Amino acid sequence: MHPLLKLTLLSISCLILAKVAFANKVYEKQDPPRELTVEEAEVAAANYKKYCVLCHGENREGHKNDHAPSLRSKSLFESGVPHSILRPISYGRQGTAMGGYLDEIGGPMTLDEVWNLTYWLFWQSGAERIKLSENPVAGDIKKGETLYQANCSSCHGVKGEGITAPALSNQAALAHNKDDFIRYAIEQGRQDTPMPAFADTLSATDIDDVTAFIRSKASGWKVKKVVLSALPTLDKYVLNPDNDDPDFTLTDDIYVSSEDLFEAIKQNKKMILLDTRVASVWQRAHIKGAIPFPYYSELEKQVQGLPKDVQIVGYCSCPRAATEYIIKQLREIGYTKTAVLYEGIFGWMNLGYPVMRAEGIIDDEAEPLH
Ligand code: HEC
Ligand code: HEC
Repeated sequence: MHPLLKLTLLSISCLILAKVAFANKVYEKQDPPRELTVEEAEVAAANYKKYCVLCHGENREGHKNDHAPSLRSKSLFESGVPHSILRPISYGRQGTAMGGYLDEIGGPMTLDEVWNLTYWLFWQSGAERIKLSENPVAGDIKKGETLYQANCSSCHGVKGEGITAPALSNQAALAHNKDDFIRYAIEQGRQDTPMPAFADTLSATDIDDVTAFIRSKASGWKVKKVVLSALPTLDKYVLNPDNDDPDFTLTDDIYVSSEDLFEAIKQNKKMILLDTRVASVWQRAHIKGAIPFPYYSELEKQVQGLPKDVQIVGYCSCPRAATEYIIKQLREIGYTKTAVLYEGIFGWMNLGYPVMRAEGIIDDEAEPLH
């Protein structure tokens, strides 16, 4: 054989060997969850449209607002049903734009609706469920950290705080996602999203190490029991009704800065503050005096008693999408003195401005959904 051909054959076989060494684990299939009745599926589709499209997109493609992940990638639905889907929908992920939708914590959906939406998303995805291990993934945390900083931090953040990608160090996410779910996401990636599959570039041991590093960020998360606060009555809508107008200068004719809003609050200006996030997060914390006005409200009902001549400022956490959606509709029906808080509530908090924490959160822990 010609030596060059020999060399070529050798390098090809090395490549094949390397491929085998990097090859994916073999996963067993798991039975699919129950099917929905036609009626349940219709309600789930309508709930998706009403509550989720804003951030996850019309076709579940994700990344519509605030880098909300895809809700149709194959690997997510192969590995995540039910709990990695059910629990974020129920409880949200505190500190991100993903709020909880379960009625128990002040959200708009019943537990049955949340289950059905979970299964509806699964059936829409066309994925087949696989069996993952419940056991922790063992790995070298130090090596994992080095690999993480080199391969992951550009999108997920140096501390896993999330930049253009989910916050991997989020305590709710760490509590809801088992090690093997995380490992599978790293190995397989998320199809049709920027999340690459690392099965071909990292070894199985590397992936274990990164998984162990991510797990090492978990410090615990529990469902807190909530006694829901009563919603503010109409007479509470206008703050400081006898005082002056704040007279904001708006950027792009719509945005007010946190600094200007804080100044107006300090000077007890006359205003209405609308919290346009899912109502459960208003229950947890909000800017003092804000009334819940979720982005999915039926506008006609919700505006009853809302005066047109008082300055309205809306805010959300995504950081503006939900509020812009509401404020634009309000403007169409004649609410011209309206503005959107530019930085959103997380920006507001990061600048050190105050929020009111709910009184209703009790330290008693409830069992999360099983
Ligand atoms: C205001 C924007 C917003 C809305 C509305 C929203 N989400 Fe999310 N969602 C997010 C963001 C952002 C994340 C990722 C948070 C993180 O971990 O960094 C997320 C994460 C999730 C996850 C976890 C996915 C994964 O890959 O781990 C699921 C499941 C989910 N959302 C379902 C829903 C459903 C169902 C609805 C409607 C009932 C909904 N979301 C409404 C922003 C939103
Ligand atoms: C180019 C940007 C990018 C890089 C690099 C990247 N990711 Fe991701 N990752 C994403 C995005 C975006 C998502 C959300 C995908 C979606 O829409 O479902 C994601 C999702 C994930 C998820 C699933 C989270 C969940 O809750 O479902 C895990 C786990 C993850 N990445 C881990 C990693 C690790 C570990 C690395 C490095 C080895 C890495 N990623 C590198 C962009 C990236």
